[in-house]
Amino acid sequence: MPKWLKNAVFYEIYPQSFYDTNGDGIGDIPGIIEKLDYVKELGCSALWINPCYDSPFKDAGYDVRDYKKVAPRYGTNEDLYRLFKTAHKKGIRVLLDLVPGHTSEEHEWFKASGKAERNEYSDRYIWTDCWIAGMEGHPYIGGECERDGTYMLNFFKSQPALNYGFYRPKWPWQISYKDERVKKTREALWDIMCFWLDKGCDGFRVDMADSLVKDDGEGKPGTCEIWREIRKKLDKQYPEAALVSEWCNPEAAICNAGFHADFYLDHWGNGYNTLMRDYEPNGDENDNTYFKKDGNGDISRFLKEYLPRLEKIKGKGYISLITCNHDTPRPARKLDESELKLAFATILTLPGVPFIYYGDEIGMKYVENMPTKEGGYTRTGTRTPMQWDNTRNCGFSSAPAKKLYLPVDVKGTSVAKESKNKDSLFNTVKALTALKNSCKDLSADAPFEVVLGKKGKPFVYRRGRLLIVVNPADRASSVKVDICGEIGKCIYSIGNTEIKDGKINAGAQSFAVFKEDDR
Ligand code: NOJ
Repeated sequence: MPKWLKNAVFYEIYPQSFYDTNGDGIGDIPGIIEKLDYVKELGCSALWINPCYDSPFKDAGYDVRDYKKVAPRYGTNEDLYRLFKTAHKKGIRVLLDLVPGHTSEEHEWFKASGKAERNEYSDRYIWTDCWIAGMEGHPYIGGECERDGTYMLNFFKSQPALNYGFYRPKWPWQISYKDERVKKTREALWDIMCFWLDKGCDGFRVDMADSLVKDDGEGKPGTCEIWREIRKKLDKQYPEAALVSEWCNPEAAICNAGFHADFYLDHWGNGYNTLMRDYEPNGDENDNTYFKKDGNGDISRFLKEYLPRLEKIKGKGYISLITCNHDTPRPARKLDESELKLAFATILTLPGVPFIYYGDEIGMKYVENMPTKEGGYTRTGTRTPMQWDNTRNCGFSSAPAKKLYLPVDVKGTSVAKESKNKDSLFNTVKALTALKNSCKDLSADAPFEVVLGKKGKPFVYRRGRLLIVVNPADRASSVKVDICGEIGKCIYSIGNTEIKDGKINAGAQSFAVFKEDDR
């Protein structure tokens, strides 16, 4: 386990929208370098950068054309190496996005694979031996290549699935995941990882990490085996490198596949989506996001799913709670500033390794009805340029507005504006990360215990010697709690909370951290 991970606070950067230094309307790597001090000032100690590799950008870069080359629109490989170096000097780690399940249809491997004549790459993708358009839930594409057969997709049409084999092959063209022919794909993946790790990257966020072996068994044993093998090599050769999975099943990802952390996303219906936001941008009906002040949110629904998962991964890895990501609506779509403060406070004090999506710290809005861009569809509204200040294009770029990657939400706020206001969300987030960074009891694996987690009541929990109280409701709430031991003094608060005569009196929309005195 990389030691640095347990105290990390991540900042996710969607590079095309962060900061443009060359005036072409698209964010770039030199722009990220220029803003490293901002990241540090925010209290984040690690970055996750969405794919920045050469790509035709039919899925915003998740369609990789060359894994080892930085997309010219973002700069050069040297720029990225410089980013690693400069970030490290400032104590910031950098995770790249690893896309192991598919490439772009324009990748050289795929072009070779589609040739009629057998070659080194013929088995790099999943090809049938006849005309199949769809089978067992997988889409297959035909009519694109000279090869006699169709190929399986992993996501969009532009993203053919890489071939890690099938768990139990049924047809002659399906190859077992244990077969040497598809083990070459694993080798190619490891080669890409080493390439970037050798250049100074600190690990990877792994896209669709559970998608490798096709028609895998229950719990995805084939895919887990591949990742375990990778983890073993990583431990040996790059013990300080971190692997964070997009799997959404901490038990499988951490206990069985060997990831250091797994994202807690929205795949569990009544789980996280009721804590932070509703997932579907159009599903307004059941808006019981936990932090809404109308008080209809129910923390017990979240805890019911979260606690058993946390228990299973104890001592093995971390759950990563996110403010949102480039695939989800921003939290400010549903939550106002006071609600967002409590959401950040909770996410930054619960166990695990938290991720802040760029712009969420200033309450950037989900821009409604944004026409799709680079395969974004409803996700596009979450991907608009960072709002730095009140100059042209909110300081994102000097390009003419019509040349920008996406229009800037000029009606929105900015870092410059938020930083001036002592009580802003931005300054609250900074205070919270400072608190987290200075308290051992808020590190990823510090002890955690729920004291009270009932519907309509304040959420009360312990982290080591800290007692934390969250009351998102717009009314005060008084609860009797059996707290053994000392409570100590309040070291951080939003609103008013006091503990008196065995009772917690939590003011409307309040958050407080109490700390036992040092012995
Ligand atoms: C998950 C990524 O987060 C998303 O943006 C992408 O479109 C798909 N995987 C396909 O790579």
